[in-house]
Amino acid sequence: MEPYTIRRVIMFGIDVCRIKWSTWFILFIVPIIFYCIWIRSLFVRLVNALPGPKQFPLLGNLLELSVDYDEFLRILTSDWVRKYGSIYRAWFTVHPVIFIASPELLEPILGSHSLISKPKEYQLLKAFIGNSLALITGDRWKNRRRLLTPAFHVQHVNSFVNIFNEKSVDTARQMEHALDVRDELDVFPIVTQCALDILCESSIGRKTRSQEEKDLYFQNLHKVQMVFMERLVKPWLGIDWLFQLTNLGCLNKHYVAAARSFTDAVIRDRREWLETQDDIVNHEEHLYQSRERPALLDILLKASEDGEMISEDDIKDEVNLFMVAGHETTAITLSMCLYLIAKHPEQQKLVMQELRQVFDDSTRPCSVHDLGQLRYLECCLKETLRLYTPVPFIMRYLTEDVQTGFEIFIHTIEIHMLN
Ligand code: HEM
Repeated sequence: MEPYTIRRVIMFGIDVCRIKWSTWFILFIVPIIFYCIWIRSLFVRLVNALPGPKQFPLLGNLLELSVDYDEFLRILTSDWVRKYGSIYRAWFTVHPVIFIASPELLEPILGSHSLISKPKEYQLLKAFIGNSLALITGDRWKNRRRLLTPAFHVQHVNSFVNIFNEKSVDTARQMEHALDVRDELDVFPIVTQCALDILCESSIGRKTRSQEEKDLYFQNLHKVQMVFMERLVKPWLGIDWLFQLTNLGCLNKHYVAAARSFTDAVIRDRREWLETQDDIVNHEEHLYQSRERPALLDILLKASEDGEMISEDDIKDEVNLFMVAGHETTAITLSMCLYLIAKHPEQQKLVMQELRQVFDDSTRPCSVHDLGQLRYLECCLKETLRLYTPVPFIMRYLTEDVQTGFEIFIHTIEIHMLN
């Protein structure tokens, strides 16, 4: 091999000096020209008309945001809101994101029937939740919502009150045992297990699989969520083919496959069981009244039997979405509510007073009627949601111009929002 001289520079195995000037032009000069034109475009000027942190060419604000997930959220949802106000912009390389933290500005977006497209960031969970509600849009989303809404009908949810009671009593016992040996208690893991059990039994069926299998499923699900957060703060991991080449990509594939194989087994079990219950399946009223029958999965399986537009994969995707969306949100809310009640003895007294009024000193199970009487407790839960919202942000991909209540006209295609 010839020795390198100052005139022969080899980069990635390419003899740089032999590259013609026209190739250089295409490789570097053309992108620079495009960048210069783009940076002066109306689109960029309008985005930059909003306040926001100073950005670097091409990198945007990535350097400031190259931190861990908690710090990333703190900067976006707290530091920058204080600094730039209730609407500001940031650049993730050449991808602008508009952050909105004011109800008046959000109203025309969240109140719209047409602005329902999800942003590309949600696609990071695609391998796991596929074509579920969270990722689909337009008529497909509307039809799916119509299909699943009965699962959340209050009467139907009320039919699970026995499961709520059973799991809550188990949880209270676990807390009591833990407090027998120490004064402090991290309630989050205990409450999370409770939320998972309730979700599992009310969505996919009672005693469907062993506790070990369920635990493993939720461990994998948690890892999938962790990978999602990692990809969110490292935008280069958002490039799918690049991500697949990384170690994290391989691990993610393994977690997703393991979690999805659990869902496959659950659906198979349930379908087999339903086949043995043909007479029940054929009667709609049983589907919505039977206490033994889980809401979500049965509705999906019935829809696929009726030949509606839902495939086997769609069913798996929806089940996985409900598991991801349903357990941590409720566990965080309950944990923070317990924390707030512990921190505010006056309010704690009022909660206890209300419980005594409704239950006296009885240890009978809580009924649907009792739940309606616990008004103060409900206010505490709502205040918890206001103070410690478990979903720190949601996003939308705007496909049309939006005029907001503050006469700000955002003339852009890509607008996301943070709350
Ligand atoms: C305190 C509890 C909860 C909170 C704070 C919460 C919050 C939210 C928020 C803010 C969204 C909107 C996301 C977006 O538009 O981008 C959402 C969507 C969703 N949540 Fe929840 N959630 C909770 C409990 C649950 C539970 C228990 C389930 C399931 C049993 C669930 C299932 C879903 C589903 C399927 C979606 C997607 C809906 C769609 O895109 O049409 N959530 N949730």
